[in-house]
Amino acid sequence: MAPQELKSLVRTIPDFPVKGIQFRDITTLIGHGEGFAATVDWLADGVRISGAEAIAGMEARGFIFGAAVSAKLALPFLPIRKSGKLPCDTIGVDYALEYGSDRLEMDPTSVVPGQNVAMVDDLLATGGTACATARLLRQAGAVVENAFFVIDLPNLGGAEKLGECGVSVAALMDFADD
Ligand code: PRP
Ligand code: MG
Repeated sequence: MAPQELKSLVRTIPDFPVKGIQFRDITTLIGHGEGFAATVDWLADGVRISGAEAIAGMEARGFIFGAAVSAKLALPFLPIRKSGKLPCDTIGVDYALEYGSDRLEMDPTSVVPGQNVAMVDDLLATGGTACATARLLRQAGAVVENAFFVIDLPNLGGAEKLGECGVSVAALMDFADD
């Protein structure tokens, strides 16, 4: 399926979670079997070409795509979890949201020191989540140079922020009006 067809499978919900925001909803994309498969294929091609040796996916929507790509490429999947979910010893990173802050955690023993880890998530907005994840993975000893997204919202500056973090961005589609 062509990128434009895949883009048409993303549903836009106006005024969610707050008035004025156009929410780009992947529910309809992953609910379309062929569309989901083509999306995973696109992400997997990018990850494979990047030479990454493992994939990190950010809870929750990053798990949907990241785990599928990992399985397709037979690469390890590293779950980056929201605070308080992992039973083992963790390392964590706090990051700013538009209002307040959040925390991501991981099992540091899941990274082999020097391992090249690619990040996969559904959507790039401000880049806060992916930048925090890159910091966390590097703290665990990973090399983080690439991130792959289904959707980029370029007006929110995420790719530039990730560039400042030393991470190259690729996205299957963008919505420039958000
Ligand atoms: C959403 C989205 C990305 C992140 C992008 O996650 O899935 O992970 O926001 O925004 P940013 O680039 O400004 O950081 P969120 O934690 O809101 O929800 P989820 O748990 O459904 O993935
Ligand atoms: Mg998310």
